[in-house]
Amino acid sequence: MRVIICPSAEEASRQAANMVAKQLQKKANSVLGLATGDTPKKLYKQLIEKYRENKIDFSEVTTFNLDEYFGLRPEHPQSYRSFMQEYFFSQINIPSSQTFVPNGLTSDVENYGAKYEAQIDSAGGIDLQILGIGRDGHIGFNEPGSSLGSLTRVKALTSETISDNARFFNTKEQVPHLAITMGVGSILKAKTCLLLAFGSAKSKAVMEMIEGPITSQVTASALQLHPQTVVFLDEEAAEKLARKKYYHEAEAAQKQLEIFSSDNTPLP
Ligand code: PGA
Repeated sequence: MRVIICPSAEEASRQAANMVAKQLQKKANSVLGLATGDTPKKLYKQLIEKYRENKIDFSEVTTFNLDEYFGLRPEHPQSYRSFMQEYFFSQINIPSSQTFVPNGLTSDVENYGAKYEAQIDSAGGIDLQILGIGRDGHIGFNEPGSSLGSLTRVKALTSETISDNARFFNTKEQVPHLAITMGVGSILKAKTCLLLAFGSAKSKAVMEMIEGPITSQVTASALQLHPQTVVFLDEEAAEKLARKKYYHEAEAAQKQLEIFSSDNTPLP
């Protein structure tokens, strides 16, 4: 796991956007896995700016979102489809037929997950998966106790997640208790994972993800098994890490390595 600690969330998002831009430069028809929540908003903003400056093009990109509330129609203002439209899709040149968000209204609950997995597979699998992390260490809506091999399915949200997400709804009672989410196993299939975490409220989950044991009680810890995960943190999210000094040293060494790398083409 590569851990990049930045002075601010803005700088972390800027570096993460550069990583996405590099991916699109390498492969114009990349398949991106996308996340919702407050955390990736700055990243989407940076990507929109790069698009407006003609530095990146989304016309051949396909996207799959991690999750959607069960029972919310796509047009519902708090659906993750609405979030993606508002903060990203409506501001870039991606054809809507190439954007996939789980259908929160599916009547085929039993088979829907397998169908979503098959759609991802037939697009060639996810090249770059963008992730946030919950205070309880979840990735997607894989709450503590989710199987580390799990695939897309319906999952019950914890009371902590319901409280955290109540800020987006008028009342806590309006927050759905179920979601369709890609599983931990689905996320681990992505070729590269890019996780963002900001603020001290996330510092415990971040420490457990990076330095704790691999456990279904902190589903993000499964990323320790992933061969290509990059974590972008601000100082506050990194404050509980015991090996912070080493992560800074490793990044300095990594910069030297990049000078010799064949992948040191300038950013678009
Ligand atoms: P947040 O959510 O970005 O709104 O903090 C992250 C998550 O729950 O995965």
